[in-house]
Amino acid sequence: MILVIGGAGYIGSHMLKYLLHKGERVVVLDNFSTGHRGALVGGIIEEGDLRDPDTLNRMFRKHDIECVMHFAAFIFAGESMRDPAKYYDNNVLGCLRLMEAMRLHGVQQIIFSSTAAVYGEPTEIPIPETHPLNPTNTYGETKRVMEGMLHWYGQAYGIRSIALRYFNAAGADPEGELGEDHRPEEHLIPLTLFAALGRRESIAVFGTDYDTPDGSCVRDYVHVWDLCEAHYLALQRLRSGVSSAVYNLGNGQGYSVLEVIRAAERVVGKPIPTIYAARRPGDPARLVASSEKAQRELGWTPRYPALETMIEHAYQWFLKHPKGYDA
Ligand SMILES: NC(=O)c1ccc[n+]([C@@H]2O[C@H](COP(=O)([O-])OP(=O)(O)OC[C@H]3O[C@@H](n4cnc5c(N)ncnc54)[C@H](O)[C@@H]3O)[C@@H](O)[C@H]2O)c1
Repeated sequence: MILVIGGAGYIGSHMLKYLLHKGERVVVLDNFSTGHRGALVGGIIEEGDLRDPDTLNRMFRKHDIECVMHFAAFIFAGESMRDPAKYYDNNVLGCLRLMEAMRLHGVQQIIFSSTAAVYGEPTEIPIPETHPLNPTNTYGETKRVMEGMLHWYGQAYGIRSIALRYFNAAGADPEGELGEDHRPEEHLIPLTLFAALGRRESIAVFGTDYDTPDGSCVRDYVHVWDLCEAHYLALQRLRSGVSSAVYNLGNGQGYSVLEVIRAAERVVGKPIPTIYAARRPGDPARLVASSEKAQRELGWTPRYPALETMIEHAYQWFLKHPKGYDA
């Protein structure tokens, strides 16, 4: 049985659906702090908090867990700078409690959601996994600490881990059943589509004087379903007995903020109100992954690399769910 922690969230809910499609048995643990009951399409659902050792002990006693997929974390860089305590508590303490429970119950495999934010300001593009980790915000720092925990727990207690450093997760379930519903939303593609749909007045471009072809920031977008595929390949790899590893997950191709807005305009078929604002502190000009290692070792090739496909899938879900999930 696979334990998906944070399975009611954006990426975790897609993962749940993906695993069920593959015929895996899945149990979800979620406290619904940012996730949605309406995003759960099957499996066994356990409501509870990752930081609570009793909850974890109950889970591990009750279910025969082969591997944990750990998606449960707070994810906003800006908020993490205003309230680092919230991030250390949920992300770092949550991970520590989980690793302790895994150790206690002899669960030896974990796939972990890490992030490009562990790298900070890149000194090399595309960014390889060997790039130094210099996070510039508390969110990225908590993920760096969590990755370290996996590493040292692996060394000492034999827990094998695969940490997947996602760049910008985007898009939605190609079948249209699941989508992205962060509240508040802070990601570029949903915010751009909200501006197109009249759910907000406009989309803001922060900085037009970066050292990039059109002056706006460049990011690497990866389809949420491709992320799920990479997790599934990582699961196969852990099952085959390999040692721990870290992989970047991105397209290896960057798109600027203005390119994203133009692509969204093509998808929705009309201009999207756009405003131009000053740079935000701490935003690197370019963040683009080298995913060569994931392609080589996991055999992962993104199935939906085109930006317009990601935007189209997101758009279709927003059209059908103008207020997001009901619960
Ligand atoms: N969204 C992205 O672009 C992106 C990029 C890089 C990395 N990530 C990582 O991927 C993971 C999932 O991101 P997401 O966008 O799906 O976030 P999300 O907020 O949609 O999902 C997180 C889920 O975890 C649950 N959760 C949080 N704290 C919990 C706790 N203490 N106990 C139990 N459940 C808890 C929430 O209720 C929610 O269902 C995160 O770890 C994030 O850092 C996301």
